[in-house]
Amino acid sequence: MAKIWSKRFDNTLNPFIEKFNASIGFDRKLILEDLDCSIAHAKMLGKTKVLSSSETLQIINGLETIKSEYLEGKFFPSPPSEDIHYCIEEKLISLIGEIGKKLHTGRSRNDQVGTDLRLWLRKEIDNLVILLTDLQKSLLHLAKANIYTLIPGYTHMQRAQPLSLAHHLLAYLEMFQRDHERFKEVRSRVNTSPLGSAALAGTKIKIDRNFTAAELGFEKIYKNSIDAVSDRDFCIEFVSASALAMSHLSKISEEIILWVTDEFSFAKLTDRCATGSSLMPQKKNPDVPELIRGKTGRVYGHLQALLTMVKGVPLAYNKDFQEDKEPIFDTAETLSSCIKAMTILINEGIEFNIENLSRSVENDFSNATDLADYLVNKKVPFRTAYNVVGEIVKYCLEREILFKDLKINEIKKFHPKFNEDVFLDLDPLNVVKSRTSEGGTAFIQVKKEINNWEKKLLL
Ligand code: ARG
Repeated sequence: MAKIWSKRFDNTLNPFIEKFNASIGFDRKLILEDLDCSIAHAKMLGKTKVLSSSETLQIINGLETIKSEYLEGKFFPSPPSEDIHYCIEEKLISLIGEIGKKLHTGRSRNDQVGTDLRLWLRKEIDNLVILLTDLQKSLLHLAKANIYTLIPGYTHMQRAQPLSLAHHLLAYLEMFQRDHERFKEVRSRVNTSPLGSAALAGTKIKIDRNFTAAELGFEKIYKNSIDAVSDRDFCIEFVSASALAMSHLSKISEEIILWVTDEFSFAKLTDRCATGSSLMPQKKNPDVPELIRGKTGRVYGHLQALLTMVKGVPLAYNKDFQEDKEPIFDTAETLSSCIKAMTILINEGIEFNIENLSRSVENDFSNATDLADYLVNKKVPFRTAYNVVGEIVKYCLEREILFKDLKINEIKKFHPKFNEDVFLDLDPLNVVKSRTSEGGTAFIQVKKEINNWEKKLLL
């Protein structure tokens, strides 16, 4: 097939270079967006009388036919078309003849591809926000059922202080809420129309950029035609927000992987989300969280690829930008499948081992801060109390006992202000209950947060 631009050339393209140059293999994903963009453009050319109403109608009908043929599986964009934009134009000309050649009046593939990409991304962001909300609802549900379930809290992967499991899960709700909000912010910049900037300088053809923007649901238009066709910030912002969301998914994945080990035994995997080993019959592997953790690297890689793609690229459009698509497509696909998988894992893939969890908070020194705070309440300076408790920990470790095993006269030797009631403060349930500061793990704070989330997520 002769290239659209072949009249300018004497020779044909080297076949390898032809393939090397082509993007049809991946940008066909943009077919519906490209069709919508072209329909809006044609309507606008009709409105400004650049096209007659009969020409406009024929072009729009032709584009609608391509859309239905595609949706019915009768048309599939493929080589030798170079990219989705040429592919649709060529198909239109083959369907309606000469009039089809008028579609590209007053635009360039540069503003066209930017428009398609933004339309596609906007749709993907809306989908991701819905998926994130579903995940948040699942976590909220699990949190609500586990307000009084205690779990050891860690810093440096060392037992620190006991927590309400709900509080621990709500921490992830917060992270996913920030992801949610980041996507909404990215969306507002994605939702800006570059259409009508043409190749880079605008056009002398009578166009109406606000009309096409409104037709396509864009909130605003780019103010500078050169910037409009050169901007790929929005792609980077999207992948950056996705990379952070993946980091949160990877974090919770890692925790689940640890929780289901024999060593932790805080939870177990149900048969719905675990797989067996080909060799070791006793095994149940946490493939789902491992895959999510593993896939995080792909998205980080895409972010690096895009940042490098734009580095040092002069104004305006450069073919480097053709490389923007695959990272974005794969990021959206990877992130949405990971959110879905995590939601299923939370809903039906994991069961907490409540007994083991409560046993684990009974058998450590994670109430040491409370022992110090007991003295602080009796006006002992914190640093003094801290040192007293340090000595008590050492004493207990040497005897392989816990605070609760100490006799009252034994503990009094460390500080005279200790009384019998200290043992009440050491009970893990009371430890958690007492952390009543705003945002703390106390049950009343956790319940308040659950209420807020229920309102926010409209359950
Ligand atoms: N396939 C190209 C891309 O993805 C479309 C834009 C081509 N523009 C150009 N001036 N060669 O970026």
